[in-house]
Amino acid sequence: MQKAPPKAFAKKAVPASVSPAGPRLHSLNDTLLPELEKKAKEGDNLREKVVDVMFALQERLGYLDDEAVELAAELTGMTPVEVEELATFYTFIYREPVGKNVIHVCDSVICAMEDGTGITEYLLGRLRIRMGETTSDGLFTLLPVCCIGYCDHAPAILINKKAYGDLSPEKIDRLLETCREGTE
Ligand code: FES
Repeated sequence: MQKAPPKAFAKKAVPASVSPAGPRLHSLNDTLLPELEKKAKEGDNLREKVVDVMFALQERLGYLDDEAVELAAELTGMTPVEVEELATFYTFIYREPVGKNVIHVCDSVICAMEDGTGITEYLLGRLRIRMGETTSDGLFTLLPVCCIGYCDHAPAILINKKAYGDLSPEKIDRLLETCREGTE
């Protein structure tokens, strides 16, 4: 996940308001658009503003498509390329559709030493997908993540941003079942 930080952003004039025209963004004209415009104005710096806008858009749309990136750019005065750089920098911003349960698998060294590789392979086998993919029923997406700060419970994963550690195949099965039951 360690990526080079994006370069400094050129600032453009921010429009007073925007009118998203695309089909997915059409529904934003109700309550979210004013909220996005507010987020684009608040915040201590441009980066913070655009990240807030992206998360708000993702919460509504499920992920950031090209239209959403363009809207975030328009709202904050950044270019779509700059927003794209930030979107791909942040692990928890998704540029493609994800499943109902997003599992981030730690691929850093401590987890690897504690059989994280075996746990990853077990997860891939149980879900029958490759890293980065979503199951055909739309329930699970598997993504890699670097250390999540749960090393004392390695191997560890995040499910919908909540940490689970001391993993074993049995524990993985229980967690997946809980997700399937919709109680995760
Ligand atoms: S190395 Fe996996 S949680 Fe730290």
